[in-house]
Amino acid sequence: MEIVPEIKKLKPSATLAINELVVKKRQKGQKIYHMGFGESPFPVHPRVKQALCTHADKKYYSPTQGFLALRKQICVFYKKAFGLKFKPKQVIVALGSKSLIFHAIAALEGPLLLPTPSWVSYQHQAYLVHKKVLFLETSPENSYLLTPSLLLAALEKTHLELSTQKLLLLNYPGNPTAQSYSKEQLEALVPILRKHNVIVISDEIYSLISYNGQDHHSMAEFYPEGTIITGGFSKDRSLGGYRLGVLLLPKRNDDVKRSILSIISEIWSSASSPIQYAAIEAYTPDKEMLTFIQKCTAIHKIMTNYVYERMEKAGISCLPPKGGFYLFPDWNNHKKTLKEMGIRTSKMLAKYLLKKYNLASLPGSEFGMPRKNLCLRLSTVDYDGGLILNEYMERSLEIEKNPVEFIRNYAPNLVTASNILEEFTKSLQ
Ligand SMILES: Cc1ncc(COP(=O)(O)O)c(C=O)c1O
Repeated sequence: MEIVPEIKKLKPSATLAINELVVKKRQKGQKIYHMGFGESPFPVHPRVKQALCTHADKKYYSPTQGFLALRKQICVFYKKAFGLKFKPKQVIVALGSKSLIFHAIAALEGPLLLPTPSWVSYQHQAYLVHKKVLFLETSPENSYLLTPSLLLAALEKTHLELSTQKLLLLNYPGNPTAQSYSKEQLEALVPILRKHNVIVISDEIYSLISYNGQDHHSMAEFYPEGTIITGGFSKDRSLGGYRLGVLLLPKRNDDVKRSILSIISEIWSSASSPIQYAAIEAYTPDKEMLTFIQKCTAIHKIMTNYVYERMEKAGISCLPPKGGFYLFPDWNNHKKTLKEMGIRTSKMLAKYLLKKYNLASLPGSEFGMPRKNLCLRLSTVDYDGGLILNEYMERSLEIEKNPVEFIRNYAPNLVTASNILEEFTKSLQ
């Protein structure tokens, strides 16, 4: 059988591939320190679980856009959590925000401006619909964020008319960088976006996992007419396998909505009905649900900061995390020694750590970084989320006072992984 050349070039998504490799190794009895896959490990909230059981018999198809009751609840949630006002008709619910990002990229005209490093899937999604991708290389000096001057330079390079539509994908808090934009940093981009007719797809899936409380600002606050938000509960409520995501459109964009809904209707029909009923519960922003999300976020913060601080002490170059559950360190200071060891690319570095130390990570090249930039994406979720959440619920004050003791007892893999990174880095000096 012959395969379409475009598709032949695709590989399975790097994040899913590393996870499968680790599962296989673990099944063979190998001890692996898994910093490769970013799945939030906390249990399903009991109310969500109950709602899913109660609605197991909702076996009929839902409207393509999602049930109205759920879309209403999502509007209530966004108002309460972020102060953003949306009407149910601006909301689309589908199978994970991953598919919604893909459909938005497919439906909207114009090249895709993609700041790098960026999440593995965006560029491949664009290639699948033959969309031109322009990479905007950010730097650690600017916290891997898009600056007005970088955006302007990239737009000028396109030689496109001001009125020609372009797309920009922003993701913050970011995977892989764990960095985020402040209100001022977002605002500074807006005049340029308006002038150059740039539509922003704002991937805010980690918005509630911001480490400084309610400090997440959506681009939709400052550029409401040109921002499409995507999000969901895969990360902050640990429900990735439920495969439900949310897209929020600006007002008066019925034609864009119609196009995205047409794509969904031809491919997926709709999100699963019982899952949508469970989602109504998950999107009920009462004190209990918001506290659940805050506690999970507090644990992500403790774990990610622990690994960051250990790396900082070991002299590993890495930006302090602002949200999410990733770190993006690099070993570019050790290029010469690593080259002598035969390690010239981030892929080789990731392979070396897996082979020598059983430490799984993802190479920076999977996130659009130059192959020879020796950066890795590390996830900080290799622990038993159920056990840890229980402990944290009972004695959060004590744990906040002495997190190291808690991590040693309940997240030993993160401690060993940090030891390994320290030992490896010392061996290079
Ligand atoms: C940055 C980013 N965006 C989107 C997604 C997709 O999330 P979902 O399809 O589960 O909503 C992920 C998942 O890993 C992600 O890391």
